[in-house]
Amino acid sequence: MTTRLLRPEDVEEAAELLRTGNNVAFPTETVYGLGARVFNEKAVQAIFTAKGRPSDNPLIVHCAEKRDMMLVAEPLPLSRQRLFDALFAAFCPGPLTILLPKRSAVPSVVTAGLPTVAVRFPHHPLAQALIQAVGEPLVAPSANRSGYPSPTSAQHVLQDLEGRIAAVIDGGECIIGIESTVVNILDDTPTILRPGSITSEELDMVAVQCGFPPFRAASLIHSDLIRADSTHSETIESAPLSPGMKYRHYAPNAQVLVVATPDEAAAAAQKYAPAMILAREEILSHENILAQRALLEHPTTVAHILSQQSLYAALRRADNEQLHTVIILADDPIQRDAALMNRITKAASGR
Ligand code: TXA
Ligand code: MG
Repeated sequence: MTTRLLRPEDVEEAAELLRTGNNVAFPTETVYGLGARVFNEKAVQAIFTAKGRPSDNPLIVHCAEKRDMMLVAEPLPLSRQRLFDALFAAFCPGPLTILLPKRSAVPSVVTAGLPTVAVRFPHHPLAQALIQAVGEPLVAPSANRSGYPSPTSAQHVLQDLEGRIAAVIDGGECIIGIESTVVNILDDTPTILRPGSITSEELDMVAVQCGFPPFRAASLIHSDLIRADSTHSETIESAPLSPGMKYRHYAPNAQVLVVATPDEAAAAAQKYAPAMILAREEILSHENILAQRALLEHPTTVAHILSQQSLYAALRRADNEQLHTVIILADDPIQRDAALMNRITKAASGR
């Protein structure tokens, strides 16, 4: 199969490919997604094959409008509907994914047999236009090979999936750069299953206003405990709430080291060259000690800015440039960013 690179003005062509059962990648504000019509079981199945994704990892359903969710989700109990409406008003369309009770019409391959369906309303105009043109919600996991960093440009998608999907729409670079925040509001205590650019503080404000307790961070518990290759995983009693969190994720081929100070970064760059250092923009400014020491002392060291927006692109660049090591300087401001730290920790846990 030849993968076509489509322009934003080719949305109608992309929609026709999707309508006829193909997989098409498209930009969202978080990362590029690999789309299929939610009610076309064969097309959904093909996504798992193209990505090499384990079949027990469910997909997110992307809707253009609030009323579209009725096609895939059962009505919420009244007490939860209030919280849903408040979250929707505050954050949607945008980088928030909410678990809802699944309608039986949704093929079980979409939700990996779970009774819930994850729903998101992307903000990106191309994503919205595409869903509207198809006339049906689209499932869309991140458009990368399973286990690799998520794609934040059409070129990243081609690197991973060329020849495996019908087309990708080139909408430039994604503004946010890491995947959406995934939440569960169906239990007594609302939980964050995957941290994202919408923070727990922002979510808590809405929850508390609606008379709910603050969100609990479920994914941190699970991702810390469960490793895909761990022989101990059987000893963990409860199944992970968000199945994707148990798999290794976001890892480049280069080894990823996490350090806390510029001195440690400099020492690691000496030891594990050729290396890439990722640090906050402020740290990389020219008068800074890290720039002086680490970057100049070893000629093969390169440095790039560390942010939610740039992390995945940098990890991919390290592999393209055949660097052995990515050194991530996670100082206090980075450590306070739960979503970024979640992705860094996973990248550092290796392939
Ligand atoms: O920002 C995003 O969410 C991107 C863009 C393309 O929208 N999509 C994305 O999809 O990151 P994916 O498939 O890479 O990640 C979906 C995550 C996985 O961790 C999966 O386990 C979880 O959402 N998930 C999906 N349905 C679920 C469900 N019913 N219950 C619990 N977790 C679910
Ligand atoms: Mg993914």
